[in-house]
Amino acid sequence: MRAQVGIIGAGPAGLFLAHLLHRVGIESVILEARSRAEVEGTVRAGVLEHWVTDLMDELGLGTRMRREAHQHDGITLQWNGERHHVDIAGLTSGRHVTVYPQHEVLIDLIEARLKQGGAIVFGASAVSITGADGDTPRIEFRRGPDGALEPLHCDYVVAADGFHGPGRRAIPEAMRCEYQKLYPFGWLGILARAPLSWHELIYANQNAGFALCSTRSADVQRMYIQCDPVDDIANWSDDRIWGELCSRLACDGWTLKEGPIFQKGIIPLRSFVCETMQFGRLFLAGDAAHIVPPTGAKGLNLAVADVVVLARALEARFKSNRQDLLDGYASRALRRVWKAERFSWYMTTMLHRNDQESAFEHRIHLADLDLVRTNRSAAAALAENYVGLPFED
Ligand code: APR
Ligand code: PHB
Repeated sequence: MRAQVGIIGAGPAGLFLAHLLHRVGIESVILEARSRAEVEGTVRAGVLEHWVTDLMDELGLGTRMRREAHQHDGITLQWNGERHHVDIAGLTSGRHVTVYPQHEVLIDLIEARLKQGGAIVFGASAVSITGADGDTPRIEFRRGPDGALEPLHCDYVVAADGFHGPGRRAIPEAMRCEYQKLYPFGWLGILARAPLSWHELIYANQNAGFALCSTRSADVQRMYIQCDPVDDIANWSDDRIWGELCSRLACDGWTLKEGPIFQKGIIPLRSFVCETMQFGRLFLAGDAAHIVPPTGAKGLNLAVADVVVLARALEARFKSNRQDLLDGYASRALRRVWKAERFSWYMTTMLHRNDQESAFEHRIHLADLDLVRTNRSAAAALAENYVGLPFED
């Protein structure tokens, strides 16, 4: 097999990249370890920045999203049992976010890519990347656990294979420049069949810890509570989860609408950046290069931002024989990455309870929240980051 660009991973980064490249006549092959059903059935984030939905329209991928998804013009922050509306649209000249689950985005992108005749090989695990430091890179992969090793020869390799994929590790460790912050808490997330409880997302900081009330559709709700990152989900009965959600989101005159929980799990929170996003002809994009804690809803959006920059650079290389944009990919992408890392850290530290912090730091976070309530510039800074910063280039 041969491709101009070999992509590992059919997540948001890999699939958006394949579409962006196809638009400018560059062909790619995506190798995806999981089955199509698994990729399309894995529940992850759900908030799209304004420009991502515009990009979906531009690429002809937005029809179902525009029909089914909900636009949110604001978010609610809650602390001391009181709610404060952040008017995202009013603070950003009418921009908004769209709540459309990541797996629905992937369903739309996969269907459109296959209709274009694009190659996505499901059940194909990349095992190694060789020759990235020369002119003839190659991905070795296996179809299924017992398949023989097969090569995918390409001009460029893009590892869009998530945090645990082999892409980042193909860069020699001594050359990788990495930064990490682990938080002493995780999120317990649920999906429940219940009606909507509030017209926008609620981010709550309460004595017992953070809670987030999000949504998936009129009758499926997504909610999270801060918990011990190594806690066992078996310790959390449905009654205990609803009890915590009700007390953390409690507000005078309002009741949380409950219903059967049909999925629950615990994830740890971390911030991570591998600044070495290029090694010869190998490029990292999305979670392969960076992780944000989910509080700012930036993970998916940042993955798409990377491949917008990368697609332009690959276009310049293939169409105009220009290498400079490829060589500048990491530094251009990282400017946005670090701003998203900063925002996600700010939202996380401001909204969670952290036993490892002092009472002084706790009061600083409450002051940060009160600043957003009382100061238009502080609220605008939050809104501009939440809705998605403009692209520099
Ligand atoms: N070979 C082939 N595919 C692989 C391999 C491998 N060795 N390892 C991982 N993959 C696939 C995974 O199965 C997954 O489908 O790569 C894909 C990576 O997708 P994501 O983890 O979604 O990463 P990315 O596209 O960067 O998107 C980041 O997705 O996971 C969320 O919260 C995250 O919102 C963020 C966004
Ligand atoms: C979600 O709905 O999954 C979600 C929403 C907002 C966040 C994180 C996750 O900040």
